[in-house]
Amino acid sequence: MQQKISFTPKYPRLVSPLRIGGITLRSRMCSAPMGFPYITETGLVTNEMTAFYELRAKGGAAIVTVSEAVTHPTGKSHGRLLSLYADGALQGLTDLARAIKRHGAAASIELNHGGMFSEMDIPGDSRDAEIVKYGPSELVLPDGKRVREMPNEMIDDIVASFVRGAALVKRAGFDIVMIHGGHGWLIEQFLSPAVNRRTDKYGGSPENRARLALEITTAVRAAVGRDFPIELRISGEERIEGGYGIKDAVEFAKLVEGNIDLLHVSAGFGEDGFADTHPSVFAPHGANVHLAAEIKRHVSVPVATVGGLNDPGEMERIIASGKADLVCMARALLADPELPRKVESNRADEIMRCLRCFTCHAERMLTQTRVCAVNPIIGRELEAGVSGPGYGRLEAPGGEKKRVLVAGGGPGGMTAALTAARRGHSVILCEKGHALGGALLSEAGIPFKSGVFDFIKTRERQMRLAGVDIRFGAEVTPEFVRRIAPDALIVAVGAEQIVPPIPGIQRENVIPASVLPERISELGRSAVVLGGGLVGCETAVFLAQRGIKTAVVEMGPRLAPDANPRHGPILLKLVSQLAEIHVNTRGTAVSERGLTAAEENGEGFLGEEFLIEADTVIVAAGMRPRRSIADALRSLAPETAFVGDCVAAKNIREAVFRGYHAALDL
Ligand SMILES: Cc1cc2nc3c(=O)[nH]c(=O)nc-3n(C[C@H](O)[C@H](O)[C@H](O)COP(=O)(O)O)c2cc1C
Repeated sequence: MQQKISFTPKYPRLVSPLRIGGITLRSRMCSAPMGFPYITETGLVTNEMTAFYELRAKGGAAIVTVSEAVTHPTGKSHGRLLSLYADGALQGLTDLARAIKRHGAAASIELNHGGMFSEMDIPGDSRDAEIVKYGPSELVLPDGKRVREMPNEMIDDIVASFVRGAALVKRAGFDIVMIHGGHGWLIEQFLSPAVNRRTDKYGGSPENRARLALEITTAVRAAVGRDFPIELRISGEERIEGGYGIKDAVEFAKLVEGNIDLLHVSAGFGEDGFADTHPSVFAPHGANVHLAAEIKRHVSVPVATVGGLNDPGEMERIIASGKADLVCMARALLADPELPRKVESNRADEIMRCLRCFTCHAERMLTQTRVCAVNPIIGRELEAGVSGPGYGRLEAPGGEKKRVLVAGGGPGGMTAALTAARRGHSVILCEKGHALGGALLSEAGIPFKSGVFDFIKTRERQMRLAGVDIRFGAEVTPEFVRRIAPDALIVAVGAEQIVPPIPGIQRENVIPASVLPERISELGRSAVVLGGGLVGCETAVFLAQRGIKTAVVEMGPRLAPDANPRHGPILLKLVSQLAEIHVNTRGTAVSERGLTAAEENGEGFLGEEFLIEADTVIVAAGMRPRRSIADALRSLAPETAFVGDCVAAKNIREAVFRGYHAALDL
């Protein structure tokens, strides 16, 4: 009989328990607060919301934090938030806490007040009237809205509302209450020397500025009792003009630690510092660890860190080195809600990493929905049956076992192949080239896009584990399809680079962005990127960061209109700092000296030509679907689906979403 080898965890610190207050957490990996937009009009929990949070509990997180719950009508920072003062709030909250806890996670809920960033919603007040906002002090916001100084009676009322809210969530069965004292909301506004100019007991000295936080945490403690854990989320530094820094945060932490059981250290000041509160692809992973570590040196209460974490090795080191006691993840657990379970069972190589593309955030702004670029079930967990009532149906075999042929190994093809194989079908994936990734391969070697490479690697591993027969150098022709005779054909043959027909474009100093990684050694000391969309701008940042003098030429009036509204502004700020920008400009010819261009005057009339000197011209003028190749594969199998860029050249999210569903439809 074969001897069984005993199991040794690869990340022993990460999977070790931690006691906070009266409860024991099953590991050090927690789900950071993430709002979910499906909330009833009066601010009640929906089934969709319960399923959203439950998925992360099922995936093994030690704490799942529900957010953002408002305790007071003056504190609504967004249109739809959970309301703890709404009639009937208890029932949905109770079901939500139970759904999280039935998987062994601790259920936490974040209580917040938006302060001067709130939209007032007081019964009797007309929403059409001038919106009244209350913050620590009088000021006018950049959008012109007036903030009034919060009267002391209102402060008392808000403190009392936190108490009522905490008592309610405890009654609903939550194990932890998180108080949001960071990200520029009310408590941080009071802490912040940049916006708190009060002269009463709430302003001036650090102790006075900390008074609101202390009053809230003291009062909540009295309401919930000694053993019920209170977590306080703060920004370790504000990173705004006149804001507080880490030294002040340390002093504050020392003042407040006696009132709380866990200090959760993030960074940044709300909307102004979005790239700080949610570290972008341009920031290092674990961007805020140093802040937690510094605070931890001065307090005895456990400290959590958050921000751009997704690598188990790095997170193990954070815990092992004592920089933090807990690691919290938001986006990483959208990309892969099972990350903690995979860490626990030594399957870290199966973790689908977050790309930090901000699709999750941006989509809420655009459509009030929650989605993830690499995880097609986010936002529709209930419908997919993975959590909430009836969870577990998703990966069940789809009935009849079919022979499935997938043409193309880009994100859409890979996701379709994986999903079909997981559902029990027999799957062959053919890739014409010698590597998986399709259009994503153009981003190989760009350091800040390393997440995309992780995506390819993980999908390949997942496909192999699911039994997909992956064939390289295999072009799917009509003859090939006839020979294989699949029951279903999924066509995911991608798109190709558009090369504008201008004189000199075939010269050797021209490199299409799609093959840049292969020709990286040909780059000189200067480059001009022809095409200022998302790909062109990211390419320009990459080149400039390598020390190459870079210019961008864009025909349209603005750069990167195809970037989402969260990633876009961060990218644009960077590209305008690093590169020379020419908008409303058309490239007219390439020579050995660079790119000749001319400005457009809006009616198609070109101004005088000028030369942008550059050793290399990079073409990033968009992608064109390989429609004729796709069309040639039509009607060759009983079922055919077309997915990804060969339908319309878009993005990884669209390809993954469609690929996943094409496989479910089999
Ligand atoms: C989709 C989404 C929703 C979020 N909603 C909240 C929220 O309601 N309250 C909050 O304190 N932070 C919220 N955050 C911020 C996260 O808790 C976290 O601080 C931030 O995303 C950085 O962590 P990450 O790099 O692991 O994503 C949200 C983040 C995301 C991605």
